Amino acid sequence: MHEVAQSIAPECRVVYVDNDPIVLAHARAILASSPQGRTAYVNADAREPAKILADPLTQETLDFSQPIALMLVAILHFLPDEQNPAAMIATLLDALPSGSYLAATHVTPEYDPEMLYRAGQVYTERGLAGALRTADEFAELAFTGLEIVEPGIVPVSEWRPEGSGPHPLRAEVNANGGVGRKP
Ligand SMILES: C[S@@+](CC[C@H](N)C(=O)[O-])C[C@H]1O[C@@H](n2cnc3c(N)ncnc32)[C@H](O)[C@@H]1O
Repeated sequence: MHEVAQSIAPECRVVYVDNDPIVLAHARAILASSPQGRTAYVNADAREPAKILADPLTQETLDFSQPIALMLVAILHFLPDEQNPAAMIATLLDALPSGSYLAATHVTPEYDPEMLYRAGQVYTERGLAGALRTADEFAELAFTGLEIVEPGIVPVSEWRPEGSGPHPLRAEVNANGGVGRKP
C-alpha cells in the first residue's frame, strides 16, 4: 500500500498493523520506503487500539497534528460484535485530527448469501471468529459520525471504478467498502 501512496506523495508515512507472525516476517522484506517518506510495521492486535496508538513506532512515524488516513481493509469481518469492533474504531478515530479519513471494507452476505454462509461455517469449524455484515450494518459500525464520501457504501468494485474493461459481479466480490471524513 505504501508504494501506491508514495507514488503520488513520496513524503507519505505509513504504519501497518497486524498480529500474524507470518505477516511480520514478510513485512520486513517489503517495507522499503521512499527516501522522503517512512514506513513501519507494528505487531499488535486490532482489539488493543490504545497499544497501537501508544507504540513508539506509531508515534515516531505518524504526525498526529495532520490529517491521517485510517485503513481498515478486509479486517472488520474478523471481529464479531462481542469483540467490540465499534470501540476499536472509536479509539483509533478519536486519536486522529479533524479532516482525517477512514477507508474500510467489509465482507457481506448480501450478494451470494449461500456461499458466504458456507464460507463462514468453514471459518467457525476451524475456530476462527468472524462476522458477516450488510452494507447498513457496516455503515453503522464503521461510519457513524463521519461524513460519507461519494459514492457511499458500495461494493468495492463499484467505488470509483477506473477503466472501461469488465468489472467483477457483486456476487464475485462479496465485499462493501466506503470512505468517511472525520468532521
Ligand atoms: C484479509 S487480510 C487483509 C490484510 C490487508 N489489510 C490487506 O488489505 O491486504 C486480514 C489480515 O487481518 C489480520 N488480522 C486478523 N485479526 C486481527 C487482529 N485481531 N489484529 C490484527 N490483525 C488481525 C490477519 O492476520 C490478516 O493479515
